[in-house]
Amino acid sequence: MNKAEVLKQIIEQRRSIFPKDYSDTVISQEILDEILHSASLAPNHKRTKPWRFKIFRGEQKAKLALEMQSIYKETQSEQLFLEKKYNDIGFKINKADAVLSIVVNFSGMVPEWEEIAAVSMAVQNMYLTCTANNIGCYWSSTKLVDHLKESLTIQENQQCLGLFYMGNLE
Ligand SMILES: Cc1cc2nc3c(=O)[nH]c(=O)nc-3n(C[C@H](O)[C@H](O)[C@H](O)COP(=O)(O)O)c2cc1C
Repeated sequence: MNKAEVLKQIIEQRRSIFPKDYSDTVISQEILDEILHSASLAPNHKRTKPWRFKIFRGEQKAKLALEMQSIYKETQSEQLFLEKKYNDIGFKINKADAVLSIVVNFSGMVPEWEEIAAVSMAVQNMYLTCTANNIGCYWSSTKLVDHLKESLTIQENQQCLGLFYMGNLE
């Protein structure tokens, strides 16, 4: 296959795949580095490189799951609280091998939408690199991340745009 055919195939194959379909195997550090490297190659106006990714694995990931669950509990009224949703928040983070927080840094040098667009392109690069490596992934834009305190520190000129879940397939 030539380059154009390979690229077309990866773009066509890319899907959002959820943690229930991830295997329990570990993504190699080499591939994880490759995924992050692909993100850093995204186009960005004035080279502001507005993406800030924090990787959660192992114990840190387990703590993130607990914090997300307690945020859900605290921000829902008793009538709207669903035990299933509460359990699902923990299940998804624990089932993924790696979770990334997607944060945009607003430099003030270009309009905010341009920084968000650049971060989104970085996420697309990660989606495609995951696809090429048979890794399931998806972007969750849950608003719960706005309340993260222990797992994530963000500056005044930054915003968390959600979480990126990853796990090997098959
Ligand atoms: C900015 C953004 C936010 C998203 N947030 C969520 C989300 O919160 N929950 C979810 O299930 N999927 C989320 N997705 C994934 C979309 O639902 C998914 O891309 C769409 O259903 C199309 O499926 P595909 O990615 O397999 O083509 C998000 C995608 C993008 C680009």
